[in-house]
Amino acid sequence: MGKVIAVAGKGGTGKTTTACLVTRYLTKTKYSPILAVDADPNSNLGETMGIVIEKTVGDIRENFMKDPQGLPPGMDKINYLELLMNQVLIERKEFDLLVMGRQEGTGCYCMVNNILNRFSEQLSKNYKYLVVDNEAGMEHLSRRTSGQVDMLLMVTDYSLRGLRALKRIHDMLGSLKLHIQSMGIIVTRAPETLNDAFMKEVEEIGIPILGIVPDDALLLDYDMEQKSLMDLPEEASSVMAIKTMMDKIMPV
Ligand SMILES: Nc1ncnc2c1ncn2[C@@H]1O[C@H](COP(=O)(O)OP(=O)(O)O)[C@@H](O)[C@H]1O
Ligand SMILES: [Mg+2]
Repeated sequence: MGKVIAVAGKGGTGKTTTACLVTRYLTKTKYSPILAVDADPNSNLGETMGIVIEKTVGDIRENFMKDPQGLPPGMDKINYLELLMNQVLIERKEFDLLVMGRQEGTGCYCMVNNILNRFSEQLSKNYKYLVVDNEAGMEHLSRRTSGQVDMLLMVTDYSLRGLRALKRIHDMLGSLKLHIQSMGIIVTRAPETLNDAFMKEVEEIGIPILGIVPDDALLLDYDMEQKSLMDLPEEASSVMAIKTMMDKIMPV
């Protein structure tokens, strides 16, 4: 299985932006092939990458459950679901993207989930790196994959409230079935020097700060103009900050 870089943190702090810029960094280096996974039910990773999403894994699950016996002739459930999953996988020259979409409703989804999980596990073997954009909690990740996370990037904005939310997520990690190799904090919209009160709480949490991303006005411009963050200039302050961080943490 490829190495998993997962992004977690409170909503609105810059998780999706980070996932996108980390994917972008990997495409520019020797770390391909790469699979970006949007595991936030409120999916918008594709949007930041300039990709229009038509179907998600959740859509497949829902459609399949409406008529579980309605299989095309000569196909069993496993073959059929795998065929559908292949249609959801978006393939680009530099990376692929899989959007998980909404979670299951009520009812028994075990069988279909098992098949989809098995497919995801198989799929992840085809990549060197997986970048996973998560919902605020990490429940998704522990349910859907082997639970292996090689690098967990915990994103917070430059506020004590953000940091405390991050601490709550950190405290909860132990109760999830995850195997996390290493983790670090990314502070977004941050000034050059972080103030003492902020640093004191960081020390109490006990996780190192890996990256500091300044407030980058270009991110807002690109959002408003619906431009892909993959097309940001190399000199954009957010792109450079993620590069500095990744250069430090990636194996050479
Ligand atoms: N470093 C930054 N500088 C300026 N704006 C940012 C920065 N990081 C994120 N944003 C903006 O904040 C908003 C939320 O970011 P997003 O990555 O979608 O957060 P999340 O995925 O955690 O909800 C977006 O409009 C994004 O452009
Ligand atoms: Mg997001």
